[in-house]
Amino acid sequence: MARPLIADIDLEALRHNYRLACSLAPDSRAVAVLKADGYGHGAVACALALQDIAPAFAVACIEEAVTLRVAGIRLPIVLLEGIFEAGELDQVEALGLWMAVHSDWQVEALLAHRPARPIPVWLKVDSGMHRLGFSPERAQTVWQRLASAPEHACDLHLMSHFATADLVDTGYFAGQMARLEALADRLGAPLCLANSPATLARAEAHGAWNRPGVMLYGSDPLERANEASRCLAPVMTLRSAIIAVRELPAGEPVGYGGRWTTPRPSRIGVVACGYGDGYDRHAADGTPVLVAGQRTAIAGKVSMDMLTVDITDIPEADIGSEVVLWGRAAGGEVLSVDEVARHCDTISYTLLTGVLPRVPRRYHGHGQTGTDPN
Ligand SMILES: Cc1ncc(COP(=O)(O)O)c(C=O)c1O
Repeated sequence: MARPLIADIDLEALRHNYRLACSLAPDSRAVAVLKADGYGHGAVACALALQDIAPAFAVACIEEAVTLRVAGIRLPIVLLEGIFEAGELDQVEALGLWMAVHSDWQVEALLAHRPARPIPVWLKVDSGMHRLGFSPERAQTVWQRLASAPEHACDLHLMSHFATADLVDTGYFAGQMARLEALADRLGAPLCLANSPATLARAEAHGAWNRPGVMLYGSDPLERANEASRCLAPVMTLRSAIIAVRELPAGEPVGYGGRWTTPRPSRIGVVACGYGDGYDRHAADGTPVLVAGQRTAIAGKVSMDMLTVDITDIPEADIGSEVVLWGRAAGGEVLSVDEVARHCDTISYTLLTGVLPRVPRRYHGHGQTGTDPN
């Protein structure tokens, strides 16, 4: 038997989540964010599954855009961080990409470039995230400069990113929104603001375009779930199996450092999945897993290729039993990646993007059953 660890990717769930993003913002278009290899799901497979319902994709850099173009993806692709050096503009043009512009040097490079056709530009405003972008005052000047150079830049949009759209406390978000609305009013500019939490919960941020990412993959980014986020469907199931069973008396330490000790006579299932596969080594004792469709928990430190779970209360669990680290079990039970992330003191984004290449991806739905099309 081959090592049983696999990441099953449900492309119908991806399409369901994308459609949910659209239905929440019927007056916006949603660019599907596929950076970091589609948040670990395989950007090409996700693009192929979405290309008949999404008008555009977004990635972080030109290399990610090239991967999609080589796979035959023809839709517009936005570079969310724009170019990293002026020399990339030739490729932006040749590949028909759209680009964010967040810095003066990018503006100068664009205006010095002589494109055969102007390049669609999303001008990035720092409305409070304090990561990339021009201050609202400076953005106004840059906007006017680009608007007066239509041979270089076309289809101008204002783009910004929210620092706290996921939080119940909307105070900081409201400040960002107020700055953006004032700027957009002054310029008559179309907006692209909403990430997943704003798509799910902040209708006032829905613009000409939205940029949902993690929600497409079925993760709920909201601090407090809402009606919409409860409709998200998990896309990735990280699935493995029990490869050995230990019967231990009470008081025996399990795994490196003996972090967890059997509190009673216990059955321990050894699972083929470890941090060498991308499973988070910070997973605490008690991190949930599904064994044969039933919830139980990690017992002991995660090792490179294996982890251990307490199966004392699941007597039918044995060698070969299904283990779901997150996602949907064969019987339909769901363990959300968000819940697992909380036990690892992290967020779903790091777990999903952290699944390493040695874990085969197996695609289901939308005519793509099989392994990675990359
Ligand atoms: C600029 C930008 N837009 C959109 C997104 C998508 O965010 P989310 O995955 O929270 O929807 C990201 C993700 O980090 C981003 O950096």
